[in-house]
Amino acid sequence: MATGISRPQTTNRTPEDDVARRLLDSSSQLSYDPLTEVDWETPLDEDFHGTSPEWSTLYGTAYWNELTEAQRKALTRQEAASVASTGIWFEMILQQMMLRDFYAKDPTDDAFQWALTEIADECRHSIMFARGAKKLRAPAYRPHRLAVELGRFFKTVAFGEGAYGAILVAEEVLDVMQRDWMRDERVVPFVRTINNIHVVEESRHMKFARDETRKHLARAGRVRRHIHSLLIAVAAYVIVISMVNRKVYANAGLDEKRALREAKANEQHKSMMRSSCSGLMEFLTSVGLLTKPALFFYKRANLI
Ligand SMILES: [Fe+2]
Ligand SMILES: [Fe+2]
Repeated sequence: MATGISRPQTTNRTPEDDVARRLLDSSSQLSYDPLTEVDWETPLDEDFHGTSPEWSTLYGTAYWNELTEAQRKALTRQEAASVASTGIWFEMILQQMMLRDFYAKDPTDDAFQWALTEIADECRHSIMFARGAKKLRAPAYRPHRLAVELGRFFKTVAFGEGAYGAILVAEEVLDVMQRDWMRDERVVPFVRTINNIHVVEESRHMKFARDETRKHLARAGRVRRHIHSLLIAVAAYVIVISMVNRKVYANAGLDEKRALREAKANEQHKSMMRSSCSGLMEFLTSVGLLTKPALFFYKRANLI
């Protein structure tokens, strides 16, 4: 005979509830507190990279070949801090969109409780990224003013598959890089821990985002699907171009103009992005979000 508080019996459970329940279970088994899990005390060891060097925006260019190992490491550390700062920006948008989505919904639903769990994860992640960027001795990297204002608009009005599709795209793009960095012994240990925590917790978020995207699309008409496919693609484009701030080069002691020019033309980096996003593109295709106008933006962002 069970004692204590039991969960209320839900008679009309939906498939979304089952997904949310599994995510809640998984979260209760494996979640992290970055404030205690990450080594914040050990001073930064400049003998390490901030990202896998292959992920540097300059890797493979003539400029990269001229850099000393110390300069390369300084650059990838600034790039890692920039990606973390862009992560914070996006997590702020995402938290607000999810809060809006679940406003006044049924709090006894697993999906409601999962949404708050995810928001709490993101809140911890943003603090973790902020501390990490500071430890990497980076200034506050913020996206371009136009991106900030577009984000402000998007987080205020986006809904349904538009909101969850954009969340998914941002999480997937970050995920592929972080999976490489967390395993890479050339990357500074505390950054590897940060990436490891993020990869584990985001895998649940991505499951939810895929599920919500599919669920909302099932109710969306053709016109709405087309509009949202374009919105998500534009969001993906803005996120990708905001990933590495142009100031990272000067902050790593490099010639900003030359670095920007060579980074822009860096085919090696573009092909890294493309190959890592194949799974995401497959998903978007399978749900009908890879429309022709959307494809234009994914190509411009070098995601396909
Ligand atoms: Fe996150
Ligand atoms: Fe997330």
